[in-house]
Amino acid sequence: MVRSTDLFVMSQHKSIQLGVNVDHIATLRQARGTTYPDPMHAADIARKAGADGITVHLREDRRHIQDHDVFSIRGNVNLPMNLEMATTPEMLKIAQTVKPYECCLVPEKRAELTTEGGLDVLKQKIELGDYVGALQEHGIKVSLFIDPDEEQIAASKELGVDIVELHTGAYADCGEDQRASEFYRIKQGAKLAHSLGIQVNAGHGLHYQNVAEIASIGELVCLNIGHSIVARAAMTGFYEAVFAMKQIMIGARLESEGQGT
Ligand code: PXP
Repeated sequence: MVRSTDLFVMSQHKSIQLGVNVDHIATLRQARGTTYPDPMHAADIARKAGADGITVHLREDRRHIQDHDVFSIRGNVNLPMNLEMATTPEMLKIAQTVKPYECCLVPEKRAELTTEGGLDVLKQKIELGDYVGALQEHGIKVSLFIDPDEEQIAASKELGVDIVELHTGAYADCGEDQRASEFYRIKQGAKLAHSLGIQVNAGHGLHYQNVAEIASIGELVCLNIGHSIVARAAMTGFYEAVFAMKQIMIGARLESEGQGT
């Protein structure tokens, strides 16, 4: 059991880092077209709770994070930003203006619910090479989101990227019978990329039940996690949210009846 006095020490431990993805705070806002909840506010809470970085995915269809979110988090939250994006000319311009700490290049399909697979670096080597160079020239570190496959890692190395993010989706979504082999793929991939001098991150589909196994891989530097954190926050914060609403209602009613203090 973790004692509360250990929490501060743990949050300062830098051997494994947490990048908090705040996309789904924006999903909730966009569902109603309101101004709340604000991903910048969530990013700042994440910083106070010990997050080491903030991830936002600015999708071409702007389904959750909006351009102004990227600028406000970059300008107001004192943590390295990891800007996930597709390799389009529009996104390149935005990244060169925002200058995040790091850009993670991902494949993007309009109809997908979330990023479905890693980049095919082998197939897109020339196109990716130009894109990687254009970001690095602006002092931005480049990460490629790839499946934990030897050829993809070797191709990433040839492009001179700073970081690879290994896709943990297949591991997270597979049945128990596949879990050990999917874990082995990630572990071997992390070892290979590390041995080639590339920083290795991982992410997608990680949650409170599976993260410990992935975090035990010593070569991994940062885990980028979003959906499970936002989902848990909705539950752990629900009591306070209902209580606060009821308090305001009762307070207003008492006041209107002349019983307020
Ligand atoms: N890493 C990448 C490259 C992603 O595209 C995503 C999802 O936006 C994540 C990490 C976080 O995944 P999840 O929301 O499942 O934790």
